[in-house]
Amino acid sequence: MSLLIKNGRIITAVDDYHGDVFIDAERVAVIGKDLSIEADQLIDATGKYVFPGGVDPHTHLDMPFGGTTSADDFETGTLAAAHGGTTTLIDYAIQFKGESTLAALETWHKKADGKTAIDYGFHMIVTDMEDDRLWELKRLADEGVTSYKLFMAYPGLLYVDDGTIFRTMRKAGENGTVVCMHAENGIVIDEIVKRALKEGKTAPKYHALTRPTRMEAEGTHRAISIAEVADVPVYIVHLSSSDALEQVTLARNRGVNVYAETCPQYLFLDYSYYEQEGFEGAKYVMTPALREKWNQDELWRGLQFGDLQSIATDHCPFCFKEQKELGIDDFSKIPNGAPGVENRMALVYNGGVNGGRITLNKFVELTSTSAAKTFGLFPKKGTIAVGSDADLVIFNPGREETISIKNPCTHHMRVDYNAYEGFRVKGFPETVISRGKIIVDNCDYVGRKGDGQFIKRGLYSGIR
Ligand code: URP
Ligand code: ZN
Ligand code: ZN
Repeated sequence: MSLLIKNGRIITAVDDYHGDVFIDAERVAVIGKDLSIEADQLIDATGKYVFPGGVDPHTHLDMPFGGTTSADDFETGTLAAAHGGTTTLIDYAIQFKGESTLAALETWHKKADGKTAIDYGFHMIVTDMEDDRLWELKRLADEGVTSYKLFMAYPGLLYVDDGTIFRTMRKAGENGTVVCMHAENGIVIDEIVKRALKEGKTAPKYHALTRPTRMEAEGTHRAISIAEVADVPVYIVHLSSSDALEQVTLARNRGVNVYAETCPQYLFLDYSYYEQEGFEGAKYVMTPALREKWNQDELWRGLQFGDLQSIATDHCPFCFKEQKELGIDDFSKIPNGAPGVENRMALVYNGGVNGGRITLNKFVELTSTSAAKTFGLFPKKGTIAVGSDADLVIFNPGREETISIKNPCTHHMRVDYNAYEGFRVKGFPETVISRGKIIVDNCDYVGRKGDGQFIKRGLYSGIR
């Protein structure tokens, strides 16, 4: 199938011009002005932006966690992502303690294979890594899994000690791969949580009040220091606070190879959401927790000045009914995570570009290009160039929507609430194209389950 997009304003991380894009055999074939090439399908993009499809490098689909399983699987989660203008996601597979990471990869392939609406890759969460299994990391890289996530949080579950972190980082660095870090001092936080529960503090807001930003900063500092000695690029995931950002900025100024992402929840939501009536605050129980509102300006500054390189969702949805309710009497039993994969592009465009905080080019960099570069997908993904995959979003800057579970244009996630309920956005992804095929047409899904493919990612390519 060939497709010709006419008269769009084509925006990449560095370009901004009016033109036409001709797509053939799943790739961008020709870009030019007033193209008159015969095509099977034609889209008139007059008055619209043509963006590279979004790349969301942080999701948890069909993930066993907190005594339950995240509510979106690879079918529903990728379909929701597609509606929101994301055409590639990188999900976190988990190696459980004692298990081979290669077996874990097989498990995650089975969860996703033949089910997805968009292309996807995997990071591997490593929960133990003895010397005799370090060879697996190279095999994972050969299989296209070129990044690993380590947790300083969740003792007894996903937590790894500093020795494991160093061993894994050393080998990852030798192999030319990247380590993603959940940077929070989980050991100290667990002590604070135990004390709070003893004092009868069980409401959702205590999830935030027991996780000080200083413990995120400490984890961030430690992760960066260990990575520096291990000689590996480190990527701090879901950075939420000014204190943690300060550590990233200091390290980058010193020339350390550190990257960081933040997420829409830390840019648009804040601690006050935990103070809502009854158990409502459980909807926002995620880790790191939502912070005091003033942190948001600091995060935007980090994005503007390049200390934060991308915006991911950390999409990890649990239904309010039955799942979040597991912690009705004890905040530490509320499954950690929130939905967002569908709303990222519209939220960031509205708050960032319309809000006068970032340029159009920066918007593309933060939501697509940067993650594609860091995680070995560029230039196949993350840009609009001849030879790149034709993953494109026709974005209407004038279209207004109210994000709501009741709005069929803004909520396809299989979860019974939307974390951004009632947020009004101007600018919306109208047509979404994945490898040359229209998959979302004005809120209607017109793709097919299994359209998406597993993407073997390349090695880290040294982009700062
Ligand atoms: O609360 C969160 N973020 N849940 C998902 C797991 C993680 O830490 O990324
Ligand atoms: Zn995490
Ligand atoms: Zn996560």
